Amino acid sequence: MKLARKVALVTGSASGIGRAIALEMAKEGASIAIADLNLDGAGKVAEEVKALGRESLAVRVDVSKSADVNDMVKTVLERFGRVDILVNNAGGSARQRATLFHKSTEEVWDYVLGINLKGVLNCSRAVINHMIERKKGVILNTASVAGMVGSVGRADYSAAKGGIIAFTKSLAKEVAEYGVRVAAVSPGVIETPMFNSIPRAHLQELLKNVAPVGRHGKPEDIAHMMTFLASDDAAFITGHNFVVDGGVILKVAV
Ligand SMILES: NC(=O)c1ccc[n+]([C@@H]2O[C@H](COP(=O)([O-])OP(=O)(O)OC[C@H]3O[C@@H](n4cnc5c(N)ncnc54)[C@H](O)[C@@H]3O)[C@@H](O)[C@H]2O)c1
Repeated sequence: MKLARKVALVTGSASGIGRAIALEMAKEGASIAIADLNLDGAGKVAEEVKALGRESLAVRVDVSKSADVNDMVKTVLERFGRVDILVNNAGGSARQRATLFHKSTEEVWDYVLGINLKGVLNCSRAVINHMIERKKGVILNTASVAGMVGSVGRADYSAAKGGIIAFTKSLAKEVAEYGVRVAAVSPGVIETPMFNSIPRAHLQELLKNVAPVGRHGKPEDIAHMMTFLASDDAAFITGHNFVVDGGVILKVAV
């Protein structure tokens, strides 16, 4: 098993991609802390992890609030004694409040940047000294192709995801000498409940734009990449952003 005896803390893992990451990492031997705003959903995933024969803990957190995040990490350390893998996966756009930038408001940007970008900084800050002291650890960030090529109606979200990719590179450079690796994964269109957050008109366009591989993505497609990056098979990989999109951003023909 690729992650035997590891402890993984996965944010936003009550649903969608995060749930798939939690289950895949558990299958590969890791104990899992399921951290989410939705404690009921996290509890259900914790039961699924237990059914795979692994230890689990459901913990409520709002990743945009540093005090919440610090409490969450304290709870996880009290239970498991360490964090080997942090997956910063919690995120999303502003659901029905998402709109074209020229109609947007500062209140919505604060919300979107808070969950997606500040959330990654808060959680990384809360575990990084622990990883530096142990001279090992892996931080994986869920970015998005929106952070690479932009997304209509989600300029704030795209800015946050682009920021995550830049943060990943910077933190990787700072902590490589301590044996800590940092990487980002950029999903394309993945079939999860987050679809409901995309403005309807844009969603129709997205769904028409099937990836060259002939289908939309599944949460497991992202979970497989995350699990590989978390494992020692990826020991020589840090600082990069891995696109898992079925080839969709290559569709501009030349
Ligand atoms: N689905 C896609 O097509 C797609 C594409 C690219 C990137 N992503 C990214 O993948 C990640 C997971 O998305 P998903 O599609 O699984 O969405 P999802 O809505 O199914 O899951 C997101 C989870 O994050 C949790 N969450 C939201 N705000 C939170 C907060 N402040 N603190 C803690 N938890 C919070 C939610 O409760 C939910 O369980 C997100 O970062 C998203 O931006 C998704």
